[in-house]
Amino acid sequence: MSTDLINAPVRAMLVLGTRPEAIKLAPVARAMADSRLFEPLVVTTGQHREMLHQMLDLLRVPAHTELDVMRERQQLSTLTARLVDQLGEVVRAGRPDVVIVQGDTTTALTGALAAFYEHIPVAHVEAGLRTGVADNPFPEELNRRLIGRIARWHFAPTPRAAGHLTAEGVPESEVFVTGNTVIDNLLWVLAKGAGHDHFTTGARRVLLTLHRRENQGDTMRGMGRALRRLADRGDVELLLPLHKSPAVREALLPELTGHPAIRVVEPLGYLDFSATLAACDLVLTDSGGIQEEAPSLGKPALVLRTTTERPEAVEAGAARLVGTAPEAILEAAERLLDDPGEYARMATAGNPFGDGRATERIIAQLAEDFGADAPGVTGAVGVTGAVETAGAPMADDSLIARLPEEPESYSTA
Ligand code: UD1
Ligand code: UDP
Repeated sequence: MSTDLINAPVRAMLVLGTRPEAIKLAPVARAMADSRLFEPLVVTTGQHREMLHQMLDLLRVPAHTELDVMRERQQLSTLTARLVDQLGEVVRAGRPDVVIVQGDTTTALTGALAAFYEHIPVAHVEAGLRTGVADNPFPEELNRRLIGRIARWHFAPTPRAAGHLTAEGVPESEVFVTGNTVIDNLLWVLAKGAGHDHFTTGARRVLLTLHRRENQGDTMRGMGRALRRLADRGDVELLLPLHKSPAVREALLPELTGHPAIRVVEPLGYLDFSATLAACDLVLTDSGGIQEEAPSLGKPALVLRTTTERPEAVEAGAARLVGTAPEAILEAAERLLDDPGEYARMATAGNPFGDGRATERIIAQLAEDFGADAPGVTGAVGVTGAVETAGAPMADDSLIARLPEEPESYSTA
């Protein structure tokens, strides 16, 4: 796997198609573009259309290839088939040295599969997250398990995620605890200070996002009713930047429109969303990325799901796994709004997802394995290495040693 780095930079194909993938691979694309060691080839699948385009400026490099696979309400099977087919052609034509995928979307799974079919090694960013429940979240838990079988580099955000992988038989030498690149991007964007928040009143500011497939339909309608009752308190402003998914809109809009304390807006660009998150008092969400960002900004997060693959935030005390039952949602939100002690404990719990240097570690490890040491960067740490974060310690040997053989189930059930 050795490449002459002076004459030929490592050609790294970054495959992304949804909003969170663009956000979390943006710092990697930016760093590679600034490095003489790498040539980043960004492939956008268009699994998301508007919500992806909103994020592309973050990448700082123009897309090398743009696919356009989104169809309204398409089935996962159709999306998957179309993506494997088209990404297969892109990888065959591009012959990159490595394909980089992030997280657990259909784009990530098919990017990894297309690379595997062309014998191109895969690097997985945000590897090792598990709920332990195969169909929750659906289909992401299965997607990330499958990518874990394909990847050659597993960049785990936390020691726990790394432990899941080694417990599944991934060699320790292929697993690296890096932190999550979402923190790198958040710090970069906040330092620019270019966004503005979208709250409009002086009431207490509650930021909402909901989109998970497993909750669409009746469960999401019930969640919407609970949120409307929360708005009835009279001392809150609920702001919902609404996901573009028609299934989400169908479930939530009838429950939330027409209330003076609820504002439903189109998805926000990242600069404004991060400023809005920084300005809010409380977050209610089923999002993965927002569970990671909220603790970094000292915002208590109530996770409106029955499982989480990010128990680190719950254990740190920064987030609570509330479930999807309307009464539980209402009770948890009211408690936080009415109990200053509980609020302060959550707001000061800290961020367990990294120190903003995940990208550095990823790039250093890839550079080393392709035959060169990147000058001036800190080496990626293996599963037994130790990295200190701004808040809690991120990696420590005893934590790894205590990890269970089988992934635990992080579920309210
Ligand atoms: C996808 C990911 C999920 C991730 C989420 C982030 C899969 C299986 N799911 O879920 O892991 O958490 O993105 O938001 O990969 N749509 C638009 N415009 C857009 C985006 C979506 O119109 O910009 C509509 C389309 O009708 C599309 C539907 O939303 O068919 C659903 O999008 P899809 O990417 O299939 O799944 P998500 O539920 O968004
Ligand atoms: N986000 C955004 N604008 C919005 C809502 C979310 O920029 O209106 C960002 C948010 O900061 C986070 C990411 O989108 O980084 C989360 O995306 P989403 O919830 O769609 O996906 P998930 O993280 O659940 O996969």
